[in-house]
Amino acid sequence: MNFKKRIDREEIMDHTTIELEPLAAAYRDINRSNELLGGYSATFKTLRKLIATARSSGPVRILDMGCGDGGMLRYLAERFRKLNITVEFLGLDLNSDALVLARENSREYQEITFGCANILEYHGEALRYDYVLCTLTLHHFSDHDIPRVISVCQSCCDRAVIINDLHRSKTAYYLFKIFSAIFIRSAIAINDGLISIRRAFRKRELQELSKKFPNWEHKIKWHWAYRYIWVIKKKRPTPS
Ligand SMILES: C[S@@+](CC[C@H](N)C(=O)[O-])C[C@H]1O[C@@H](n2cnc3c(N)ncnc32)[C@H](O)[C@@H]1O
Repeated sequence: MNFKKRIDREEIMDHTTIELEPLAAAYRDINRSNELLGGYSATFKTLRKLIATARSSGPVRILDMGCGDGGMLRYLAERFRKLNITVEFLGLDLNSDALVLARENSREYQEITFGCANILEYHGEALRYDYVLCTLTLHHFSDHDIPRVISVCQSCCDRAVIINDLHRSKTAYYLFKIFSAIFIRSAIAINDGLISIRRAFRKRELQELSKKFPNWEHKIKWHWAYRYIWVIKKKRPTPS
């Protein structure tokens, strides 16, 4: 199997109308993987550091592009409640069934709201967010559309865009096969998890992409297990 290039294959979640229960099962498995394989904590630690170094008054505003069933936002809401940091979250997703699950699962979280939007057609310039997240979502897009996704995230972001996505590697692929045999129940999550790794990124590719956005600061860091966190920070204007 060749991992040199991103493969051009859709995930089941992207091209099929899935009944609500199998969709819920797939998101439960994605959430378990995020929890056990460090996906949630990598985003949380990155955000916590950024928030600690930013001076701000009022609630921190966070937008999650491609929020799925809202698992990441509930995780972050719990962590920030413990730190007594007030946060307002908005999760956007293209899949209205995912949003049914997200609203149902997030009833205890008044700080989280959800909306339906296609990232590629989103015009959010009027709404401002301190941080814009894009977790396990960038790899769903073609090489052609990825710069547009990043521009859209930047267009409504005042501080930093945080991309959390997978590292495309043979080791990650076979480790996920072992992990999924033990921890994943949904056939959709197993199929899509393996495709996701093959659609994911090498550091060099993210570095090349970052050159398309020279007016922003870029930091790309590898995290266990086989993730990249790419922080795209708004450059401060230099004092004249
Ligand atoms: C693998 S899930 C990731 C969910 C969540 N962010 C997480 O980390 O667990 C990818 C999500 O991206 C959403 N998505 C894919 N294409 C999209 C688009 N064009 N606009 C908005 N959401 C999209 C899918 O519906 C799906 O919920």
